[in-house]
Amino acid sequence: MENFTFQNPTRLIFGKGSIEQLNSEITPEKRIMVCFGGGSAKKNGVYEQVKQALSGHFTVEFWGIEPNPDYDTVMKAVALARENNIDFLLAVGGGSVIDATKFIAHAIPYKGEDAWQLAIHNDLIKESTPLGVILTLPATGSEMNHRGVLSRRKTKEKVSFISPFSFPKFAILDPVVTFTLPEKQLTNGVVDSFMHIMEQYMTSTGNSVLMDRWAEGVLLSLIELGPKVLADKTDYDTMANFMLCATMALNGFTGMGVPQDWATHRIGYELTILYGLDHAETLAVVYPALLKILKNQKMEKLAQYAERVWGIQSGSITEKADLAIQLTEGFFRKMGMKTHMKEYGIPPEAIDIIYNRLKKNGAVYGENKNVDAEMARKIFAESY
Ligand code: NZQ
Ligand code: ZN
Repeated sequence: MENFTFQNPTRLIFGKGSIEQLNSEITPEKRIMVCFGGGSAKKNGVYEQVKQALSGHFTVEFWGIEPNPDYDTVMKAVALARENNIDFLLAVGGGSVIDATKFIAHAIPYKGEDAWQLAIHNDLIKESTPLGVILTLPATGSEMNHRGVLSRRKTKEKVSFISPFSFPKFAILDPVVTFTLPEKQLTNGVVDSFMHIMEQYMTSTGNSVLMDRWAEGVLLSLIELGPKVLADKTDYDTMANFMLCATMALNGFTGMGVPQDWATHRIGYELTILYGLDHAETLAVVYPALLKILKNQKMEKLAQYAERVWGIQSGSITEKADLAIQLTEGFFRKMGMKTHMKEYGIPPEAIDIIYNRLKKNGAVYGENKNVDAEMARKIFAESY
């Protein structure tokens, strides 16, 4: 088992009617800026509940955080927060609103000229405005983790930032607010959560008996719940279980003592910033291909996954691995995802365009740090 430090300070408040508790989570003297996306919160009643719960507080609203939040948008929010001497932030939305609010929290007290540096050099984040979350889309785990992802469309960059200051003080999860999610976002949420576990699980065997079983438990739950979520998003217990899976898939827990991959996430960012795919769509496009290309490296774990998650007991280790890869892609497709680049109308030249960008950037990803530009090119060619 690898050495690790685990701490998660976010208070998780879960269940029907829990938005009411917002009032007691933020002390009355706080000057709050509430951050929203494009308007779903107004349509599904979340906005009214938040207004009601904060009726005794000073609040300013910032609307218009887009999916894959943009640096220019968040800097407008930073200006509004500074003008109003804001000392508490509340994110109401999915991963994009939460991540944007995390960045706003870091940028408000930042004295440097160029706040984008905070996203690239995370050690510059030395203080932060406290934030809380009301989650409306189970997917990213951002509500209970210290990660954020920010895009900069002008320069075609999408980067992830990590800081202990990014942990929300609290996260309120009322599964009822997910009943209005469009089918596309349900599909995205299930696949993203599944992939968060895979990134922390599908490496090598024998690192942590407990974390393997935990990861397999979440994967089995998502395989069971995914089709139910699509069949009836207004079933409270289905959505509550899905919501808990999504949070637990990326709150630091699964990662204790195990090597982690994350190559699919990182090279997938390219497909979002260049071709506009949703985050989860990029994962479904990259991952089956990555597993095929890195099958030998991940063989033992693929066989364990085949046996324990997909119930495949017969065949050679290679046959088990092959079948597990097929079943994983099959699950994504059953959830309504396309799994090949060309299905999105991405031109074949994209493979070289991405290769050149990754080559220039020079980063290497994956548990063995061998997913470089060359390897990524093979993966995208396999996916195409
Ligand atoms: O903007 P509004 O109008 O609110 O609509 C949103 C948005 O259009 C809508 N939505 C959210 N809750 C709803 C709803 N519609 C109806 N009813 C509701 N209850 O859903 C759309 C997508 O929202 P978004 O927040 O963009 O989706 P998601 O939660 O998938 O977040 C994606 C972002 O998170 C990053 C991604 O890269 C991407 O930028 N990630 C963040 C991570 C983290 N912080 O740990 C990890 C992930 O791997 C991921 O990279
Ligand atoms: Zn993700």
